[in-house]
Amino acid sequence: MALKNVPELRKFVAPEIVYGEGAIDLAGRYAKIFGASKVMLVTGKKVLKAGWSDIAANSIEKAGLEYTVFSDVTPNPRVEEVMKGAGVYREEGCDIILAVGGGSVIDCAKGIGIVSTNRKSILDFEGADRVHIPGPPLICIPTTAGSSADVSQFAIISDRNNLRKIAIISKTLVPDIALIDPVTTITMEADLTASTGIDALTHAIEAYVSNAHSPLTDVHALEAVSLICSNLLHAIEEPENIVARSGMMLGSLHAGLAFSNASLGAVHAMAHSLGGLSDLSHGECNSILLSHVIKYNYQSAPWRFDRIAIAMGLQLAGSGSDERSSALSDHVREILRKAGIDKCLGDLGVKNEDIRGLVQNALRDPCIVTNPRIPSESDLERIYEEAL
Ligand SMILES: [Fe+2]
Repeated sequence: MALKNVPELRKFVAPEIVYGEGAIDLAGRYAKIFGASKVMLVTGKKVLKAGWSDIAANSIEKAGLEYTVFSDVTPNPRVEEVMKGAGVYREEGCDIILAVGGGSVIDCAKGIGIVSTNRKSILDFEGADRVHIPGPPLICIPTTAGSSADVSQFAIISDRNNLRKIAIISKTLVPDIALIDPVTTITMEADLTASTGIDALTHAIEAYVSNAHSPLTDVHALEAVSLICSNLLHAIEEPENIVARSGMMLGSLHAGLAFSNASLGAVHAMAHSLGGLSDLSHGECNSILLSHVIKYNYQSAPWRFDRIAIAMGLQLAGSGSDERSSALSDHVREILRKAGIDKCLGDLGVKNEDIRGLVQNALRDPCIVTNPRIPSESDLERIYEEAL
């Protein structure tokens, strides 16, 4: 017999998390706990230059372990980079992966791991629950406050041959350890702080209104909205303000725990499609679409969107639902304007004739399934047109 008001079954997965200043220095100790002998350190050029990869490498050396560095990773990591990294992992005889970087680096490291153990193309894992053999142990040190790839069961890989991004969702992609050190984010430039911060805000909003949300993910999503909205502009304006950086890192962590378990929605499905076509940064793609999708989705979950607005600090008392919907999307646009990323698709070279292809890829993206309102082709066409 079905009972009323009984919660539906929901799972919640998360890695072991160490949060705080100095977490980066624990990389070697954790690699040793796993019994590793050779570490593959996956990182990116900017992170290498900022010195964070060296700090992690020193910790590996201090633990008495060998390591090899793989840094051929670009923003929007590509199929070829993952496959090349998997080749290096095997040739070098590595037995653990340490990712030091933003979402692109961590997603590439996740890809290298599952390709190495399954001996398949990364393209074979597209979709939900398609990974049969877990990768080797994965330790992540995020250096941006946004992607939360260090706690999530997602990896997004760019297939440049077909101008699309593939989403891989699997519990096997949840890293083993997330060493989250907010100090690593002080070297982020203003535009990266803004775009990754808006990515985190989008994670929180989409997780809260997702049709796979749960009481556990709701707590994290709302806390993330509040932390990100109170700290983002400070972090952009004062890069070394560690209070703001810590607030953003914690906000991103909460958002990651929420979206990894509740999944996302139309903003991400459409942003993945856009990033596949144009190779634009993921955060920028989200920022262009966010307010338009909020307007489209509002009536499907008005109470939930109102809670988001309240977490952002908006006063809604006495207003009707149309006013509340506009107040929220206007406020999001205002945050984007102040953060310096209030662009439209036309500014970035996207044309009307691109929209049909964008819609087709967005409809294939697994994130579309958990949007609170299931969109038709023409709905998505209209949203892209509004964002043009
Ligand atoms: Fe994202």
